[in-house]
Amino acid sequence: MTLDTTLNVFRAIGEETRLRIMALLTSGELTVSEITFILGQSQPRVSRHLKILADAGLAERHREGAWMFYRIAVGARENDVLCAVLAAVETMAASGDRILARDLERFRQSRETRAAQAAAYFEENARQWSKLRRLHLPESDIETRIVELAGEDNVDLLIDLGTGTGRMLELFADKYAAGVGYDLSREMLAIARSNLEKAAINHAQVRHGDLFSLPAEAETADIVLLHQVLHYLAEPSAAVREAARLLKPGGRLIISDFAPHDLEFLRDEHAHRRLGFSDEEVGEWCKASRLDLVKTETLSPSSGDRKKLTVKIWLCAAPVALRRLRSRTAA
Ligand SMILES: C[S@@+](CC[C@H](N)C(=O)[O-])C[C@H]1O[C@@H](n2cnc3c(N)ncnc32)[C@H](O)[C@@H]1O
Repeated sequence: MTLDTTLNVFRAIGEETRLRIMALLTSGELTVSEITFILGQSQPRVSRHLKILADAGLAERHREGAWMFYRIAVGARENDVLCAVLAAVETMAASGDRILARDLERFRQSRETRAAQAAAYFEENARQWSKLRRLHLPESDIETRIVELAGEDNVDLLIDLGTGTGRMLELFADKYAAGVGYDLSREMLAIARSNLEKAAINHAQVRHGDLFSLPAEAETADIVLLHQVLHYLAEPSAAVREAARLLKPGGRLIISDFAPHDLEFLRDEHAHRRLGFSDEEVGEWCKASRLDLVKTETLSPSSGDRKKLTVKIWLCAAPVALRRLRSRTAA
């Protein structure tokens, strides 16, 4: 860090709206309209401030269809001055600063509204989910590939995050001694229970739980799955972090989701928040959660049908040595 870069940080955040925006971005990635809602300011004004933050290298943006997402720039997260200022702002918010506490409250409201919209979609569509999931997926190829990527060995515990109707628990049933699926939608869980029962799978259970904060113990799972879940979430990176927490050293996380696409209608009609993910983005989440991105697969639709999407599978592994070293140092 130099005097110049430090002054650059102060110039960018030395203004109320911009400091509030940076404080918000410490809680996660946000769209311009979410920031506008939280701050209660006009969109042109918010956009102007965001541009200044982006030009200063403190925030970075990426466009996805009609939505523009902002987050703290990767390089800026290592800037000591910025981190110190944002930590101080966080303390102010916690100790009741009126403006910051209100921003935080509205941030929570915006996240809750988003989660409620997705939840309503799944409550409404639980019964037809098996049909809906095939709409955009060349399913059987993906399922075969996912099972192959999980490796040949049988495992003790498999955890399926956002299990929905329990399809992954069925698919992997021969592979695990115990399977647990978590989901927020009670409608989906009811169908999952009945599906498991019909398939006589007694060694799997489903539980109601928020995948961002599960009651499950750390470092217990051999395999964690995130199958077609991340694109509904406000904070996919936090879901990967939680998955990493659950994995035993050497355990594997299998993520299956869409490659970047431009089917904007999926947001309005099917509650998608993100229009797919790039390998780079998933790689960053893995790095931040101390996972190795071992393999990336791309399954393109063969028909050329524009409504079918390219599906990606990312195989990630919890490194053995690092975990052991960490637990030894913690002991
Ligand atoms: C598209 S479905 C996928 C279901 C299943 N993995 C599959 O491939 O058939 C996404 C599921 O994620 C669940 N979900 C969304 N947000 C969640 C959260 N925060 N915690 C747990 N489950 C969540 C939804 O209720 C829904 O059942």
